[in-house]
Amino acid sequence: MSKYNFDQEIDRKYTNSFKWDNPLYEGRDMLPMPVADMDFRIADELIETLKNINDHGVLGYSLVPKTLKLAYQKKIKESFDWDTKLEWQVWIPGIVPGLTKACSTFVSSIQSILTPIPVYHPFHLVSKWVDRPLLTFNMVEKEERWVYDFIEFEEQLKKNPGVFLFCNPHNPGGTVFTNDEISRIIFLCKKYDCMILSDEIHADLQLQTSLKHICIGKHLPMDFPAITFFATSKTYNTAGMGGAMAIIPNSNIREEYIKSIQGVFPMLSRHSIEIMHTSLTMNNEWVENLLIYLRNNHELLISFINQVNGLKMFRLDATYLAWIQYDADILGDFQQRLFNNGLHVLRGDQFLGQNFIRMNIACTQKSLEKALWIIKKTVDETH
Ligand SMILES: Cc1ncc(COP(=O)(O)O)c(C=O)c1O
Repeated sequence: MSKYNFDQEIDRKYTNSFKWDNPLYEGRDMLPMPVADMDFRIADELIETLKNINDHGVLGYSLVPKTLKLAYQKKIKESFDWDTKLEWQVWIPGIVPGLTKACSTFVSSIQSILTPIPVYHPFHLVSKWVDRPLLTFNMVEKEERWVYDFIEFEEQLKKNPGVFLFCNPHNPGGTVFTNDEISRIIFLCKKYDCMILSDEIHADLQLQTSLKHICIGKHLPMDFPAITFFATSKTYNTAGMGGAMAIIPNSNIREEYIKSIQGVFPMLSRHSIEIMHTSLTMNNEWVENLLIYLRNNHELLISFINQVNGLKMFRLDATYLAWIQYDADILGDFQQRLFNNGLHVLRGDQFLGQNFIRMNIACTQKSLEKALWIIKKTVDETH
């Protein structure tokens, strides 16, 4: 039996939690399922790491030790069978700032940024942040999966975007891309000479055991302009700690990128460095049990949702972020109605997807059951 109990209810209120202490909830009993962090206690090894730092009591500037670099290199090889070199690694405080800086550095003022939609909101917001036009193409449903519309993708590539933002696996919708899909993406980006920025933060969170995450970088020529972003923070629930890593095989791109982040990004904290190190070197027990728990939550959710008239959801290949379509003719403004009944999920519009909600199921089964009860109540009130 596992020593970890993911059923443990942990009160996160009054901890400055972005998720639980949202000012919108003031004076209300609200079940929050928006932003992507998990309600679970982190692994014992990580708690121990934090305790050791606290006991030592010195928090000066820190460097990324070679042991961490080697640990990430080994992880990428063992989990994704990609041989990378240590000098390709660039350490950054987070993937979102890393993507943003890459867009401002590599997209010229006359070029645009290309992303599929719906997508994790910074992928489209970045166009405003760095003042470059946005090009989008649609994800469409095919055999109960959200996949690229490759015709639209190519049409947009013809407009010469500076970068293509690849969310791999995809958030929201949870798509794990197949070999064939990855090959098509590479073929098209090569054909139109478009740089690829691949965000692989959800790579470990595979809900379907039969599928395997494919790093796009593994299949690109070394000199191709591409950056692959990795982080341990989603997998180990340490998102508030910061810390991520970019793999940049092309030395010119790497040098330009390093130059662009100097004096802009802060150094990584000792906490962040040691948390990443422990995450990558401890045994897998916590993650294995987490995945079992998330898979159970996912089963519970999907079997419930697809019985409700007006709601539809495809299986998530990966991530803990359910993407649920609703029929607005039947259910009206469903997100708002759920909110009124005490369940906060994100509105699909935030990801440029209409008539969807995105629901974070990395919570205790008890919380999930409460959420399903609120969904049922809200649907029942419709008729
Ligand atoms: C696809 C994706 N990328 C990046 C992030 C956040 O990364 P970071 O906290 O390292 O900026 C998230 C968080 O939800 C995400 O879903």
